[in-house]
Amino acid sequence: MDFDTPVSGFGRHTQRWDDMDPLRGVAGTDALPMFVADMEFRAAPCILDALRNEIEFGYMGYFGNPAPVAEAVSHWMETRHGWSFSPDCVQFTHGVVQGFARVIEMATEPGDGVILFTPVYHSFRKKIPAKGRTLVESPMVLRDGRYEMDLEGLAEVLTGREKVLTLISPHNPGGRIWSADELRAVADFCVAHDLILISDEIHMDLTFPGAKHIPTSVAAPHVKDRLITITAASKAFNIAGGETGLAIIEDAALLERFKAAQKAYGGTPNRFGMIMTKAAFTDGADWLDAAQAYIAENFRIWRERMNALPGVSVMDMQATYLTWVDFSGTGMSHDELLRRIQQDAKIAVSPGPDFGPDGEGYQRFNIAMSRGNLTRAADRLDAAFADLQ
Ligand SMILES: Cc1ncc(COP(=O)(O)O)c(C=O)c1O
Repeated sequence: MDFDTPVSGFGRHTQRWDDMDPLRGVAGTDALPMFVADMEFRAAPCILDALRNEIEFGYMGYFGNPAPVAEAVSHWMETRHGWSFSPDCVQFTHGVVQGFARVIEMATEPGDGVILFTPVYHSFRKKIPAKGRTLVESPMVLRDGRYEMDLEGLAEVLTGREKVLTLISPHNPGGRIWSADELRAVADFCVAHDLILISDEIHMDLTFPGAKHIPTSVAAPHVKDRLITITAASKAFNIAGGETGLAIIEDAALLERFKAAQKAYGGTPNRFGMIMTKAAFTDGADWLDAAQAYIAENFRIWRERMNALPGVSVMDMQATYLTWVDFSGTGMSHDELLRRIQQDAKIAVSPGPDFGPDGEGYQRFNIAMSRGNLTRAADRLDAAFADLQ
C-alpha cells in the first residue's frame, strides 16, 4: 500500500496525464493533474493480481455469469454499509454516467424535467440537455460553510413536467455526507411530487475515517419503489477505466423496467471491469481503509495550505477527494484565476462554473495524489498568488 511513490502516466492513454494539454491547455511533463476524478495511485494489489490471473489465462472473450460479481457487491454493501439486498437487484452498466442516461431514457420523455442540486457533477448537467430533457437546477444554500438542499425553493419552481430527481450522495463537489433526515426529506419530496429518485452513490466508499455514509435505501426504505441507486467500485478503488457501473434496484417492477431499457442496447459487461469490481469488493477493504486515511491527511494538509492564501478558502468535507476551493475573496476574474492556476502553476483544475452558475469563483481540485505532488501543487499556488501575501 504505497501511496507516496509518484506515478506518471504520460504516453499511456491516460485522461489524467495525456489529456491535460488537449482538455485543459496545461502542457509539459511537469504539469500536475488535479482535474479528472481518478487517483494518482496504482490499484490495490488484489485487483492487480486478479488482472494478472486473467492475462495468464489468456482468454479475452465476452464476459459471462455475472452472478458472483453481484454477490460480491451485495456482500460488500451489507458488511460495509449495513444495506441488505438480493444480488438479483444488481444490474451492471457501462459506467455510472451510462446508467444515469438509461434511467433518464426509461423514466422520461423528451421535454420532461430532471432535477439536479447545484453546484453539481458537470457531466450530468450536460447529459440531460443532450438527451432532449429539461435541466432543472436547484441551487443549494450555503449554511455554516456547507451546502444544504433547498426543497422549499425547489417546490416553488416545479412545473409538473419533472419526472426525475438526482441526488449525489456523498455530494460532488463539496464532499458532503447527507444526514438520514436530509435523505428522508428528499425521498418524501419525491413521493409528494411523483418523481423517480436516482441516488448516485459512486463516492460512498470514499468517506474520511470516522465519517459514515448512509445509503438512501437504508435511510428511506419507504421509497424503494421509486429509487434507483447508481454506484460503482470505480472511484474508491481507482478502476474507472474498467467502465463498470452498478444500478441497484430493489423494487421488482422498477427492476423489470430498467432491464427492458437496458435490452434496447444489448452488450455484455466489460470483462476487466467486472473482474476488478469483484476483486475490489471481495478483498479490497484493507487497501481502501489505508487510501481513505491517506486522502484524509492530504485534505488536512491541503486545506491548511490553501486557507493560508488570502481570499481563498476550502470547503470542509467528509468524503470524496474532490476539494471545492472558493477563490472569490481574491476579487479575481475567472480567467485570471485559471491563468494563474493552469498557466503559472501548471496545475490542471476543474473550473467551478462547469458545476453550475453557483460555481462561479470556485475551482475543484482533486487531491488523490502522492503527498510529494500535493505539496508541490501547494508550493506552486503559493508562488502563483504570491502578490496576495
Ligand atoms: C457523482 C459522479 N457520478 C458519476 C461519475 C462518473 O462515473 P463513470 O465514470 O462510471 O461514468 C463521477 C465521476 O467523477 C461522479 O463524480
